[in-house]
Amino acid sequence: MPNPRPCLLLLMLSAAASAISAEVNFTVVNNAADTIGGKRFERRIGADYSCQAMSTATNFIWDLLEQTTSFGFGTNTTTSERRDYSNVTLYIEPMDGADGVSAYALGNSLHISANYIGNYTGNVKKEFTGVLYHVLAYTWMWDGEGEAPRGLSSGMAEFVRLKAHYAPRMVGGSPGRTDYWDEGYGVTAMFLDYCNNIKDGFVAQLNAKLKEGYSRGYFRELLGKSVDVLWQDYKSKYQMDRP
Ligand SMILES: *[C@@H]1O[C@H](CO)[C@@H](O)[C@H](O)[C@H]1NC(C)=O
Ligand SMILES: *[C@@H]1O[C@H](CO)[C@@H](O)[C@H](O)[C@H]1NC(C)=O
Ligand SMILES: *[C@@H]1O[C@H](CO)[C@@H](O)[C@H](O)[C@H]1NC(C)=O
Ligand SMILES: *[C@@H]1O[C@H](CO)[C@@H](O)[C@H](O)[C@H]1NC(C)=O
Repeated sequence: MPNPRPCLLLLMLSAAASAISAEVNFTVVNNAADTIGGKRFERRIGADYSCQAMSTATNFIWDLLEQTTSFGFGTNTTTSERRDYSNVTLYIEPMDGADGVSAYALGNSLHISANYIGNYTGNVKKEFTGVLYHVLAYTWMWDGEGEAPRGLSSGMAEFVRLKAHYAPRMVGGSPGRTDYWDEGYGVTAMFLDYCNNIKDGFVAQLNAKLKEGYSRGYFRELLGKSVDVLWQDYKSKYQMDRP
């Protein structure tokens, strides 16, 4: 019987706002303790570290998405409502990885493959932390009531990982040579980063809009240009920067 390890995150707000506090419980369950990857998880990463990282990452994501409830001088600076989960559980799973899936989130339950941890060459703790930021972003982000393109969601999650400085080195690949802004992962993350540099907080505002549904028009509403024009601008810029 695996032993879940609860770890409490308490967001302490200013005294004036003490009634509005968010509390999330994080739990880690190693369902793969008898596999090589599961043992490597215990040795190189551990439940205590994972729990702490989930808490740190959650604060980072709320901040990036401008969903931190902060009432400095009585001002509500929150851009959008965040998802209402009181607990998040991470499962280290003995997935066989045949379909290439190393990690996924289903609502507030996160799953990371022990085989992936077992097979990873390099700094496994850093890689694990990056994967954790990516899947945890799914937990907290809105998805346009399920209408958002999958590539946009994976790109937003990878944008979070990029901003947290846990992105893999090859993030973005060769955006100048891809055709689709919503190809996903690193390609879309780098494009979103470009958009976010045009207007700070763009991704947070896009996420806020995704609470109600999805439309390509959100890009024009927020940045004054269609997503296709922005993508062309981005590709031209990329090609100029990298002749
Ligand atoms: C803060 O603003 C957000 C977004 O407008 C809103 O959803 C939330 O309810 C507000 N919180 C309070 C305590 O007023
Ligand atoms: C965890 O959160 C889910 C969804 O918010 C809820 O259904 C479940 O009862 C919670 N579990 C515990 C142990 O609090
Ligand atoms: C978190 O876990 C602690 C200890 O198990 C429990 O007392 C508390 O009610 C939980 N909080 C939430 C929001 O589920
Ligand atoms: C590597 O992955 C394969 C299949 O995905 C798995 O059978 C094997 O046990 C893994 N190796 C380690 C050391 O975890």
